[in-house]
Amino acid sequence: MSDFISNGWSLFVIAGTVGGLIFCMALLIIASRRRVMSTDDTTGHVWDEDIREMNNPLPRWWMGLFVLTIIVGGIYLALYPGLGSFGGTLGWTSERQYQDEQAKAQAAMHQVYARFDTMPVETLARDPQAQGIGERLFANNCAGCHGADAKGSKGFPNLTDTDWLYGGDPDTIIQTITQGRQGTMPPMAAAVGTGEDVHNLAHYVLSLSASPHNSVAAALGKPKFVACAACHGMDGKGTQALGAPNLTDKIWLHGWGEPAIVAMINNGKHNVMPEHASRLSTEQIRVLAAYVWGKSHTGAVVSTASP
Ligand code: HEC
Ligand code: HEC
Repeated sequence: MSDFISNGWSLFVIAGTVGGLIFCMALLIIASRRRVMSTDDTTGHVWDEDIREMNNPLPRWWMGLFVLTIIVGGIYLALYPGLGSFGGTLGWTSERQYQDEQAKAQAAMHQVYARFDTMPVETLARDPQAQGIGERLFANNCAGCHGADAKGSKGFPNLTDTDWLYGGDPDTIIQTITQGRQGTMPPMAAAVGTGEDVHNLAHYVLSLSASPHNSVAAALGKPKFVACAACHGMDGKGTQALGAPNLTDKIWLHGWGEPAIVAMINNGKHNVMPEHASRLSTEQIRVLAAYVWGKSHTGAVVSTASP
């Protein structure tokens, strides 16, 4: 319990603290007993010809306060830690106070979450209390990356649409939040061929989503897509187990157009969603997952919420 490496330090602190209190008290008594020497109540000091320093006694209320602070200080030191390694007669420690408060807060939260435990995620997603908690958890833990509206931005997926890198069912969302995700696409230029091949392949990728493209280049690039099929699928529809996105829709995580896709093929990408198991309890993650799930299932949420 003691932070002191030897008893000597503790005694030193006690001596300093008690000595300080005694010194203050003594000073007070001596000062109040001292008589004024001169007859005109001044100290005899004069400045600027006629400014005299008076020697009035301290006001009583001020003296009273001074004595009171010394007494309160003494009582405090008897009750609470402060005198060296003496723990005080109340036995208070900041650690114990923290633990008590934690236990109280957890008991209160447990009551709230106990009700949620029995609900399936789909029901949780339309429970107003769970939604309120989910919204706050999202604002504190997720909004920094996915945006306050969960719509994401470049590199950070939109969680309100029906396009999922890893899957949008409740269990998968829970897994994503708990364990985090690492999306890795290696640099592919070497596997594709020349710069011209990469250019053609990029136009083929654009053609998959019927985005504006050069159809001659796309036809030339098509055979090169075998290098990509292992992850994105032969049809380009992606593989959720790998987090490889669907390339046939118009949703682009890392930007749209030939330059963005060429850069993707040449440089690859490593994108990280951090794990949250170490910051949030499983109960919190479940409520959060329900909140996220509800974002892309607004129809289900609204229609069943109203009787
Ligand atoms: C440091 C930034 C960051 C934070 C904080 C973060 N995320 Fe993510 N999240 C990402 C990135 C980046 C991805 C995409 C990973 C990838 O490309 O493989 C992602 C992916 C996801 C996915 C998968 C989306 C899909 O399409 O399958 C979900 C769900 C998700 N995040 C939810 C959350 C929730 C809920 C929180 C809050 C607890 C959160 N994220 C906090 C960066 C973050
Ligand atoms: C080893 C698996 C793998 C291979 C092989 C692969 N990719 Fe990817 N690709 C991914 C992953 C995973 C992502 C998502 C990265 C992330 O999480 O942000 C991705 C993302 C992309 C994107 C960005 C999509 C968007 O929404 O912005 C494009 C474009 C792309 N890949 C094209 C290709 C092409 C073209 C090839 C073939 C030359 C290829 N990929 C090969 C795994 C792969």
